[in-house]
Amino acid sequence: MLTALTRMWLTRSVRPFTFRPEYDQVLPYGDCQRLGLYVHIPFCRSLCSFCPYCKVPYDAALCDRYIDALLEEIRLVGEGGGGRKQVTSLYFGGGTPALAAGRLGEIVRELEKYFDITEGIGVELHPDDVVPEVLETLRDAGVTRISIGIQSFQPKFQRLLGRAPVDGAVLARALAAVPFQTVSMDFIFALPGQTFEDLRRDLDTAFACGANHVAIYPFIDFTFTASRLPAMRKGEKRRLLDRITAYCGEKGYRRDSIWTFAAAPEVGYSSMTREHFLGFGCSAVTLLGDQFKINTFSVEAYCGRVGEGRLPTALTLRFTRRQRMVYYLFWEAYSTRVSARAFAETFGVPLERMYGPELRLARALGLARYRDGVYTMTPKGAFYYHHYENYYTLAYIDKMWGILRREAFPRGLKL
Ligand SMILES: C[S@@+](CC[C@H](N)C(=O)[O-])C[C@H]1O[C@@H](n2cnc3c(N)ncnc32)[C@H](O)[C@@H]1O
Ligand code: SF4
Repeated sequence: MLTALTRMWLTRSVRPFTFRPEYDQVLPYGDCQRLGLYVHIPFCRSLCSFCPYCKVPYDAALCDRYIDALLEEIRLVGEGGGGRKQVTSLYFGGGTPALAAGRLGEIVRELEKYFDITEGIGVELHPDDVVPEVLETLRDAGVTRISIGIQSFQPKFQRLLGRAPVDGAVLARALAAVPFQTVSMDFIFALPGQTFEDLRRDLDTAFACGANHVAIYPFIDFTFTASRLPAMRKGEKRRLLDRITAYCGEKGYRRDSIWTFAAAPEVGYSSMTREHFLGFGCSAVTLLGDQFKINTFSVEAYCGRVGEGRLPTALTLRFTRRQRMVYYLFWEAYSTRVSARAFAETFGVPLERMYGPELRLARALGLARYRDGVYTMTPKGAFYYHHYENYYTLAYIDKMWGILRREAFPRGLKL
């Protein structure tokens, strides 16, 4: 209800986000500025009960067939692109992309036929893959940034999440042997009974292992996942987040998005906040101009559809102008900064003309500050974004992914 009202207020319309089972076979990315690339590898050794992402148990033959289809999807998109296009970054996510480490180089080379990648290549890793041989294979494929899903260094929380303990010393040795520009580590916070001391110990271990970037995700209880953990109370969550933010600052890690802290500006790791991106593989999202499209979640349906020479898009949403603005602001705010000039350049209209009352309200409530054409979120604003993000995730992502997990090509969806 809250999310529907907010959507109506911000889009100044009762029109829902309407997804249809159609797509453009030729994608109009030629004129997009700051385009990013994302590739999804949906295989894991075992499936974690709390995880909402699109993934299936690893099977070598299926993984090979999937990568062949992925190369074909890249060709289908790239051949329609009208020439080699400069892009910012390439991110591999999953699942566990390192299970296909031996073929990531092949995927990068196929992409490089059509795209010139200027800001490096990132890969999400499971801690089990942080061993010198795998890291060397990734580095040889061109990877410059890695993000490791630690969740917690403490056995009691790993047990709660159904994961095996992670040995910091093993990680530290592997990371010292094969360095990367960005070494990011993911943690989950707001787990039942988790205290600031628990998180401080986790962060200290991460920093000592060589992490120059950390992501601290609030636990989200997706309706379709098997785990059921009691939610932490709002006040407790706020105190915890404030203390983590202050602690990261003391250690020289500055907030570079709602959830992440970086030791230097050039070590960021973010596969999400690009203005435009092309996504390849199961469940991958593409955002170009006014269209948002999402690929099928079914590995078999993905391979079948690409085998017919068609794109594996399950649903496409064509934004109204206001909807596109809201989506843009949502992801800009995720970086904790919204530039009025960038907004005006993107939409050809001043930000204050479109959202003047909301911006004044945000400043009056102490959620944002304004300086030199940029609105910056305060710690209070960051907490509330964090907090309400949970509702939006459940209202939009949970619903969309829930349907796409059941049906390879749904007939449509309204959110
Ligand atoms: C695709 S997963 C991680 C990559 C790798 N497969 C692994 O498990 O280490 C990306 C990150 O999302 C976060 N995540 C997964 N499920 C979550 C949930 N229910 N709530 C909050 N964060 C979650 C975890 O921190 C995880 O490391
Ligand atoms: S958390 Fe990582 S390893 Fe676990 S199921 Fe999700 S993607 Fe796979």
